This record gives sequence, structure tokens and C-alpha cells, in this order.
Amino acid sequence: MYKMDIRREFLPFCRPTIGQDEIDEVVDSLKSGWITTGPKVARLESDFESWSGGQEAIAVNSATAGLHLCLACLDLEPGDEVITTPITWPSTVNNIEICGGKSVFADVEKDTLQILPQEIEARITSRTRAVIPVHFAGAPSDLEPLRQVCKKYHLALIEDAAHAVGTWYKGELVGSRSEMAVFSFHPIKNMTTGEGGMILCRDPGRADRMRRLRFHGISRDAWRRYAKGGLPQYETIEPGYKYNMLDIQAAIGIHQLKKLTHFNKRRTELAENYLDLLKDIPEIMPLKSPDYSHIHAWHLFVVRLDIDSLSVDRDEFILHLQEENIGIGLHFPALHLQRYYREKYGFSRGMLPAAEWNSDRLFSLPLYPLLTEDDQVDVVSALKRLVERFSRKG
Ligand SMILES: Cc1ncc(COP(=O)(O)O)c(C=O)c1O
Repeated sequence: MYKMDIRREFLPFCRPTIGQDEIDEVVDSLKSGWITTGPKVARLESDFESWSGGQEAIAVNSATAGLHLCLACLDLEPGDEVITTPITWPSTVNNIEICGGKSVFADVEKDTLQILPQEIEARITSRTRAVIPVHFAGAPSDLEPLRQVCKKYHLALIEDAAHAVGTWYKGELVGSRSEMAVFSFHPIKNMTTGEGGMILCRDPGRADRMRRLRFHGISRDAWRRYAKGGLPQYETIEPGYKYNMLDIQAAIGIHQLKKLTHFNKRRTELAENYLDLLKDIPEIMPLKSPDYSHIHAWHLFVVRLDIDSLSVDRDEFILHLQEENIGIGLHFPALHLQRYYREKYGFSRGMLPAAEWNSDRLFSLPLYPLLTEDDQVDVVSALKRLVERFSRKG
């Protein structure tokens, strides 16, 4: 099954699947004379609302912007605390700081990397205002106990669903019942708009505020000022941001959303194939899927390296993988140990054992619909060669 030779061409870690439909729709926008926020953004929002079963959808130019808007709507006071996971992309947590809050980290389940509700509850104080779970790698966080904790302590629940377009939790599509959930359409995500994101929000009043905040905090966006029937006047209601999605981006997203089920099905086939191929390499330990009922969107295929049985650490191992022409991702080094958070809060090792254990060992394998089974054999063969080369047993 394993191949003897190094792959000849570099296998990228990710590649978006862009078809002729997306290309034609972008060209249509470019030729239409309307390229910024307009009818195609409205269509993508409406399609997303239908897809999610009726939540308010607010398109933005990144999930980072979406998370910022959700937190901005909480009007945090200095010293207010928000509890989140250390195993995430920096923007989940940076936005807490940008909004004047205090970041509090709770540990994750060792084999799924999902935030643990009991770890959250142990960190709640009189200043806690919100919780941000990350539906890590495309598997859902355990929403039922998270909702119970948030209800008990009157906390907002902002779901970072950047990895979870099309994830299901106990028969519920992630985002479809959320107070606030934010999806990412970055090129490596399950569907893309180039850059972009979508907020789903239950409360129409809050959704209106986010729509305003995404465009300077004024009462009327460009489409509602310049399109036929629009009025050019506007009023500044509160200082806002420039986070609107372009029609050029939405043009891509409209077709990506239609293909999402098909994309996620292919991701699932490939993930299952990796699980099978990796069975005989105990030094490479894939994440486990949560034991509650769910459908995985397989955004990422994350593995942990058994560094104790090898003579190299994870960083050196992935350098060798790259020399084998295999592109690799890192999702994610624990954030509480990164410079800003370490220095600001005095965090150090030993504080969040499961996150730290994983942080030293994890990396992500290529996983996207255009990957082939033959590519996967190249990846696994490279892993096998390196594990044998660096084994302490050998
Ligand atoms: C967990 C998580 N949250 C938020 C983001 C931010 O997404 P975006 O790049 O759309 O701003 C990412 C991006 O990778 C992410 O992985």
C-alpha cells in the first residue's frame, strides 16, 4: 500500500474548489456595474437564511469581522470576562481584547479538542459575560451543556462556527438555533467567497445593529442609497466598522452554498479513508470524533504525533514532511502560551494540560474535495517513512 518514492510535485495543504458557475457569476457582477455590497450579497444572505431554517444572516468580509461584531454588541465594560478555548485561531480571542474584555481560557477535551463545559463553569466569576466555543475542525462542541451553563449564569453564547458550515449537533444544524454563530468563507474553509463570513443571529434587533455596525454605524448602506428607489441621506447612529461583503465575493458564495453538501460528502469520504490508512501507524494519532450524536463537516484532519517514541519534535517532523512535498497546517498552537497572552496575563505552561499536550503534537493533513485517494497514499507513505526514520525503537 505504501509508496517507496517521494512525491514529485508539492501537494498543497489546501485548494478551493471553484467551478464555472462561480466564475460566470463573478464575471456577471463585474460586468453589471455593481461590484460592492448589493443584490448578490442580499441573495447569499437570503439563501443562507433559508438553509439555516430562518435565522437572521449578516454577511461580512471575514469571520474575524463577524466575531468582532458579535462581541461589540455585548457592550463589554473594562474587566468583563469572556471564556473561550486556547485551541483556536488568534482572532477568536483577539476580538475579546479589542472590545475591552478580559480573555479567560478553559481547557479542552484531550482527544476531540472541544471546549469542556465543566472547565468553563469552573472559571465563571461575577464579571463573566460570554462564552465562545469553537466547533473545532468541523465537529460540534457539546452545545446542550454549554447552553445550560450560559442560561444558568446569564451569559451570551457566541459560537465560533468558522470550521462548521454544514455541521450537525444532535439533529440540529449548527447555527440554526444559535444566539449568535459565525462562519468563515476563507479559501481553506468548506465553502469560500475568497475572504468572507456570515453571522447567524436569533434576535432581529441585534441583527439590525450588526448590519449597521458592519457599515460605519450609519442608517443606510450603499445599495440602499444608490440603487433605484434608494435615498442618499444617512444618519450616523453609532461609530461602526467597514466589514461589508462585496457582491463579487457573494457571487462565489451563492454557488458554493449550493455545492456544500456535495463538498462535505467528499471531505467525509476522504477523512474516513485517512482513518483507515493511518490505522497501522500508531505514532500518528488522529483526533477522535465526539461521542454525542453529530455530523462532522470535516473541515480539518488533525493528527497528533507521538513525540515520546520519536527522536524529533513536531516542528522538525513537519519540516521533513514538507521536504517530502507534503503541505501541512497547524491548527492550532495553544493561544494562552503566545506572547501577547503570556505577557499580559502571566500565563505559563501547566495551566491547561490537555491543550498544551496537543499543542506540542498536533498538525493537519491536506483535506479538500479536490484531493485524490492517490494523494492520500502519498501523504501516509511520507508519514510512514518519517516515523520509521525517527523511531527511537529502530
Ligand atoms: C476557529 C476560527 N475562528 C475564526 C477564524 C477567522 O476566520 P476568517 O479568516 O474568515 O476571519 C478562523 C480562521 O481560520 C478560525 O479557524
